[in-house]
Amino acid sequence: MQTQTRVKLKVRPFTADDYSPVAGELRTGTTGVQREWRRRGIALALKVRSLEFAKKQGYLRVATENETNNHRMIAINDRLGFAKQPAYVHYLKTFET
Ligand SMILES: CC(C)(COP(=O)(O)OP(=O)(O)OC[C@H]1O[C@@H](n2cnc3c(N)ncnc32)[C@H](O)[C@@H]1OP(=O)(O)O)[C@@H](O)C(=O)NCCC(=O)NCCS
Repeated sequence: MQTQTRVKLKVRPFTADDYSPVAGELRTGTTGVQREWRRRGIALALKVRSLEFAKKQGYLRVATENETNNHRMIAINDRLGFAKQPAYVHYLKTFET
């Protein structure tokens, strides 16, 4: 029987030419696992892999972010030892038309 696993992990390194002013920092974003494959440790494994990649490449730290109500991703990042940083509050003012 053939099985198919589709997972997605974007690893975007910060470089001098990228939009980060932080040297030696790798940013990971948009970890996603299709619904039917969730809760099997795939996202956790992908993030572990990205940390291994960062270390191997000589990065000093890894940055990531997620919405404050995304308890799944927060659990993963907490588990991997990411330290929470001060959060931004995003405001939106809508004009009446
Ligand atoms: C967030 C997401 C990537 C997690 O993927 P996943 O492969 O199911 O996660 P894992 O199986 O590796 O879970 C690892 C841990 O995360 C936590 N977790 C994951 N899903 C959870 C859920 N539904 N409820 C509670 N905790 C959860 C648990 O601590 C879990 O460990 P455990 O299974 O030993 O309890 C997946 O739910 C997803 O694709 N969500 C939509 C996209 C998204 O929100 N991405 C994050 C924004 S960057």
